[in-house]
Amino acid sequence: MTIEAQGITPDRVGVSRKFTLIAAPLAAIAYPWTLRAFNIAAAEIVEPSRPTHLIFWLGAALFLALAFAIPLIGLLASFRLARVTAPTVAERRAELVALLVVAAPAIYTFLGVVDFMTNSPLPDEWAFALLWALLIVAVVASPDRPYPIASAAAAPATLRVAHGVAAIAILAVFLGFHLVNHLAGLIGPDAHRSLMKSVHAIYGSALVEPLLVAALLFQVASGSFLAARHLRASADPFRIFQIAAGVYLAFFILGHMNSVFVYARSWSNPPIVTDWSFATSEAWGGLIESGWSNRLIPHYALGVFFVVAHMGAGLRMAMIGHNLPERWANRAMFGVAAAAALLALAIMLGMCGLRLDLV
Ligand code: HEM
Repeated sequence: MTIEAQGITPDRVGVSRKFTLIAAPLAAIAYPWTLRAFNIAAAEIVEPSRPTHLIFWLGAALFLALAFAIPLIGLLASFRLARVTAPTVAERRAELVALLVVAAPAIYTFLGVVDFMTNSPLPDEWAFALLWALLIVAVVASPDRPYPIASAAAAPATLRVAHGVAAIAILAVFLGFHLVNHLAGLIGPDAHRSLMKSVHAIYGSALVEPLLVAALLFQVASGSFLAARHLRASADPFRIFQIAAGVYLAFFILGHMNSVFVYARSWSNPPIVTDWSFATSEAWGGLIESGWSNRLIPHYALGVFFVVAHMGAGLRMAMIGHNLPERWANRAMFGVAAAAALLALAIMLGMCGLRLDLV
């Protein structure tokens, strides 16, 4: 059978075509080095009297922006690949890998903690590069035959409702308090610590904590199932954004639980108190100065952004489901995403040392 007969145009099988399929995971390989370059430039900023101060300042800003650009490249690649109406197997796999690129910051943090705990001889940036290299090979080796697209991939209604109800419970019992608690870091570590003491009494109790952990794991499992269902058909950018945010959250939630419950509270001897000092890597010099911990800047920032924006995408679907004009639903989602970005920025500025003088 000719490639035209299989529904594939010749320009979709060449070397350049393959390159566009793997551009996002290729960019992901650079992620740890953008952070390393940021760290080197940021270390020079602390000497404002030096004539090169401005150059290093701009360099640090540029490299941090490049680190954030990598998940954005993954998102744009997923949008493009999800729009293909009759994709090949290679294109469909490239779409899945591009969605993983969105989660690169959370994957790199998770990998870094596991690498540290296992005392791995393979440095985490190389383990990370190996992961993307394997995924690139998997895409390149994939056939250019048509992928069997499902005509209707409706997600089971009961699971959708359960995912939504669990989200409201998590928001009410934990997430709302947790985000406000991190915002208090803008006032100072003491404000963060004393607020944490009060809110931890709610979600950290012997009764609530196991239920919360179960609810978060349920979100990962149910969300992954729903995402897999939606990915069987082609999807619009709104749906892809919701799925990409979910993929990020899956790695973020599992990595966060590993850091707090396994690494800090069980593996470390003596156990590490998981408070402000732990979150901001005080013992290692802080989020900007520490060569390991500056990965936490994009990791946390996107964690806050995606968890709120993902719910904004859910709000959009709910508004459309209630027959409200799509235009309104889109605006509501953009509004929530903009608020999510501002919230993430405010929390990160506090964690990186900015203080609001409220007295
Ligand atoms: C704390 C974690 C999470 C929260 C708070 C959350 C919240 C939500 C909310 C509020 C919705 C809208 C529900 C509805 O339309 O009824 C939703 C939908 C969705 N979530 Fe999550 N989610 C979380 C984690 C995840 C994860 C880890 C994934 C994994 C990929 C995921 C994937 C999805 C998908 C695919 C949908 C669309 C469901 C559909 O319309 O069929 N979510 N999420």
